[in-house]
Amino acid sequence: MPRYSKTLIILHWATALLVVAAWFTSEGGRHVRENPPLLHFSLGLAVLMLVIPRLIARLMGGAPRVEDTQGPWLNLAAKIGHTVLYVFLIGLPLTGWYAASRLGVPISFFGLGLPALVSPVQGAPGFLAEVHETGGIVILWLAGLHALIACWHQFVMRDGTLRRMSPV
Ligand code: HEM
Ligand code: HEM
Repeated sequence: MPRYSKTLIILHWATALLVVAAWFTSEGGRHVRENPPLLHFSLGLAVLMLVIPRLIARLMGGAPRVEDTQGPWLNLAAKIGHTVLYVFLIGLPLTGWYAASRLGVPISFFGLGLPALVSPVQGAPGFLAEVHETGGIVILWLAGLHALIACWHQFVMRDGTLRRMSPV
């Protein structure tokens, strides 16, 4: 069974931890303006930082091809599912950065100040900020489903899928 490259495996698990940590440190509502969750911003931005080398490593051939153990439709479903996860890994930090900019709070990456993406507003931060809040919950459900499918492959179909992403 071919495996993902070491780089992609490290980036996969580091990203998974960061997404969960970003979720735990997230805050919504009025006190984001008064007391911005800077750790949430840093952890979320780290997700964006990691997805860029990850996609490059992937383009350079670090990902094994999908194993043909399950028929073409399920293979296509797996590809679509992984693409959706990548869309969230890029879209969530960007909409979060946008939301923080609209709220007019300082944005930093572990102490390094970053510019606002758009001008601040007085009232609600707007539609994309709502997309961010909902997306932040949806990604966890998607990742949970993704983990369940991986375990189903491993323990029911016994096709060694977990080994492909295993750090050891
Ligand atoms: C927030 C959490 C997670 C995210 C965002 C995530 C995202 C992804 C993405 C985007 C891929 C596709 C990699 C590629 O082809 O470039 C992938 C592959 C994989 N993930 Fe996750 N993942 C998460 C958590 C987990 C967990 C908890 C497990 C295990 C229980 C898991 C097991 C796997 C496996 C086995 C693969 C390889 C699938 C294959 O060989 O086609 N992932 N993950
Ligand atoms: C994978 C990364 C991220 C995840 C999973 C995530 C998740 C979440 C969640 C679940 C909420 C809603 C919290 C609640 O309503 O109690 C939220 C709110 C928020 N997040 Fe993120 N976030 C991420 C990245 C970021 C980044 C990078 C930034 C800024 C640079 C950011 C800024 C914000 C802001 C400003 C809010 C409040 C929005 C509002 O009150 O309208 N997030 N995030």
